[in-house]
Amino acid sequence: MERIGILCSGGDSQGMNTCIKAIVNCCTAKNIIPIGISRGYQGLIDNDMFFLTREMVENIDIIGGSILKVSRSDEFLTENGLNKAVANLNKNLIDGLIILGGNGSFKGAENLVNKKIKLVAIPATIDNDLFYTERSLGFDTAVNNAVKAIDDILQSVSSNDRGMVVEVMGRNCGDIALYSALCVGASSVATKELKVGISQICEDVRKCISCGEKSPVVIISENVDFEVKDVELALQKKLKIDTRSTVLGYIQRGGAPSVFDRLLAIRFGTIAVESLLSNKFGIALGITGENIFAKNLKQANKAIQKFDYPLYDSLKQLHNLK
Ligand code: F6P
Repeated sequence: MERIGILCSGGDSQGMNTCIKAIVNCCTAKNIIPIGISRGYQGLIDNDMFFLTREMVENIDIIGGSILKVSRSDEFLTENGLNKAVANLNKNLIDGLIILGGNGSFKGAENLVNKKIKLVAIPATIDNDLFYTERSLGFDTAVNNAVKAIDDILQSVSSNDRGMVVEVMGRNCGDIALYSALCVGASSVATKELKVGISQICEDVRKCISCGEKSPVVIISENVDFEVKDVELALQKKLKIDTRSTVLGYIQRGGAPSVFDRLLAIRFGTIAVESLLSNKFGIALGITGENIFAKNLKQANKAIQKFDYPLYDSLKQLHNLK
C-alpha cells in the first residue's frame, strides 16, 4: 500500500482533526503518502485532493471541525456520482481509504466497499448514533460543551427562581440529551426514544417543585414532536413558573476535543492505518469499554438503535419520579 486517502463526511465533529493528524503521522512514519480529500464524498467526485504533510497537521489536533472540510453529498447517492468517486480514487492511485463520519457516511462507505474499495470507517459524529460502538468521536466533547453551557445558564436562572428549557442536538438519538440531563440534574428529559410528552414534562417538574426545587431544568432533544417554546409556555400556564427557553445549537459541535475524544481519535487513527497495512478492510472501528475493535462494516450498519434506559432510571431516582 502506497497511498492512503482520508476524508471526513456528514457533520463535522470534535476529534476529526486529531484523528487526521494521527493518520498523517502514522502514514509518513511508514513511508506511505497520505492524501487529503476535501469536502467528503463530494470532493472525491470533484477530484478535490491534495498531499498532506506532517507540517500541515502539526497543530490541528486541538481544533474542532475538520481541516479537510465536510459535506453531505446528494450526488454521491447516485450511481453516476459513486462511479466518478471510484474512478478518481483509482486515478490518484489511492489504494486505501479512511472515512470519518456518521451513519449517512457509513452507508456511503458501504457503497464504496461494494465497488471493491479498500477502506476503514471511523465513527465520528456528536450524535453517538452508530449503535455498534459505545462511542463516536465528538460525542464526549459535545456533552461537555452542553453541560458547561447549561451550568452557566443555570447560574442566571437560579438567581431569578426561573425554570429553563434547553434543546440539545443529537438528530434522532437522545444520548446528548440524556447525558447532559443527568449531569445537570434536570427535572425532566424528553427524547425520541422516551416518547415523553409535554404533560409528562409538566408532571415531572411539578414533583420536583413540590420537593422544594426553585429552578427546574428541562432538556429536550432536537426532533421531538414539540419545541422548547411549547414547553416554556406549558410550564408558565400550568405550573405558574416563570420560564425561559433556549436552543443550544452549534456551540455543541465546536471547540477543542476533550481528552477522551483526543485519545479515541489517536487510537482510531493509528489502528485504521495498521488495519489497511495488514490487509484488513471493509471494516468499521468501534470501542467497548477500554477496547477498540473492528467490525465488518455491513454488519456495523445493521446495528439496531439502543438507548440507555438504566441511565434514564438514574435521573428519575434523583427526583423520585416514576
Ligand atoms: O449529525 C450531527 C448534527 O450536528 C446533528 O446533531 C444535527 O441535527 C445536524 O448535524 C445538523 O446538521 P447541519 O450541520 O447540516 O445543520
